[in-house]
Amino acid sequence: MAKIMYFLTVFFIILHVPGIFTEQENPDACPIRKFNPLGQTCQKACTRNQECGLKRRCLCDGDCGLSCVTTTRSCPWPVNIANAKTGLVKGTRNFGDQMSVLCHPGFKMASGQETALSRCQGDRKWSVITPCDVLDPVKSCDVPHTIENGFLMENGSTFSVGTSVHYQCNLGYALEGHKVTQCMENTTWSQPAPTCRQIFCPPPPEVKHAYLLAIQKSEYAVFEEINYLCDRNLDMDGSHNVTCEANGNWSAIPICRTRCKIPAQRSRVVYKGSKRWVHEIPGTVHHLEAVTFFCLNQTCSYPATSQCFDGILSLPSCYEGCVSHSQGRCGNGCISRNKGF
Ligand SMILES: *[C@@H]1O[C@H](CO)[C@@H](O)[C@H](O)[C@H]1NC(C)=O
Ligand SMILES: *[C@@H]1O[C@H](CO)[C@@H](O)[C@H](O)[C@H]1NC(C)=O
Ligand SMILES: *[C@@H]1O[C@H](CO)[C@@H](O)[C@H](O)[C@H]1NC(C)=O
Ligand SMILES: *[C@@H]1O[C@H](CO)[C@@H](O)[C@H](O)[C@H]1NC(C)=O
Ligand SMILES: *[C@@H]1O[C@H](CO)[C@@H](O)[C@H](O)[C@H]1NC(C)=O
Repeated sequence: MAKIMYFLTVFFIILHVPGIFTEQENPDACPIRKFNPLGQTCQKACTRNQECGLKRRCLCDGDCGLSCVTTTRSCPWPVNIANAKTGLVKGTRNFGDQMSVLCHPGFKMASGQETALSRCQGDRKWSVITPCDVLDPVKSCDVPHTIENGFLMENGSTFSVGTSVHYQCNLGYALEGHKVTQCMENTTWSQPAPTCRQIFCPPPPEVKHAYLLAIQKSEYAVFEEINYLCDRNLDMDGSHNVTCEANGNWSAIPICRTRCKIPAQRSRVVYKGSKRWVHEIPGTVHHLEAVTFFCLNQTCSYPATSQCFDGILSLPSCYEGCVSHSQGRCGNGCISRNKGF
């Protein structure tokens, strides 16, 4: 069957295509030159090759009739025609060669045609082809289905063959199925409409040394808020309130941090902007709070700041190797002797 079809196609082309554009072989078939042919500049009129000089031949040039043309001159390529695909029938674009114009699906020419052949004229221009600028109403799909908890990103009213539309879900919903669907040649949509599934957050994670203030559930809706509270004497690093986000993840979970003891009982330090003895500082230093110690070298005393981080407050390096943190050349002990601090 396929073989017969192929044979018939070849037969058709042999029979018809040459018939249209080889009129020059039969001068009687060439039209008489028209006055001002549309979209065409006529070459010198002729009846025989001898009237055309050496390089030109007397050939039929469409509405210009028999004309002296240079057969080796080419028409431009590629050619863009709105809403159409163009092609060279024989791969060449010399005088008499043809260009096929095929309208994109859903479009047609003002004449109603979906395909046309253009001819390379003697003036090296392609014969006029009307653009595919008419929407074919028969060739369009119904308005695509609307979906719950989602919407269509395109809001046109006609959806011609070849058009794609995109679905999107509302915030807090996940799209399941095909996001894009296309209007097919047989005017049906290529994919069924997707669905939008509600997104939930899982139960929130446990935080060490913290209470969770929330109703216990197996899933939490987007935008739902819960709270954490650290145990006594611990500092919260982060926000106490945590929200179920639109992607199904919780916002940043806080951490409970241990406060610091200052590991040098008899030193003088700067804490919260004022200078004091360590034993004058009530309780412990908060997470991320700074304490400034003082060091002494041969010439002067200088400050050295340390930060409390989750229970650890390091002494400055000048305290290293000290037996006691209050006497001798170590840290504050020396400084107080100097009366500077
Ligand atoms: C829909 O139409 C309105 C008004 O005609 C326009 O502002 C909007 O950008 C269009 N597209 C969408 C996705 O709403
Ligand atoms: C339209 O064409 C598609 C694929 O070409 C096919 O799956 C579908 O069944 C056709 N629909 C109708 C209604 O003919
Ligand atoms: C949650 O915490 C953030 C930052 O700490 C704050 O901006 C927001 O208002 C809080 N929300 C509630 C409901 O307390
Ligand atoms: C949720 O958080 C995890 C871990 O931080 C991350 O890998 C994942 O991509 C997030 N999910 C979404 C949908 O953003
Ligand atoms: C003492 O410390 C100060 C401040 O850091 C520094 O400028 C100075 O050079 C030091 N002197 C000696 C002898 O180490």
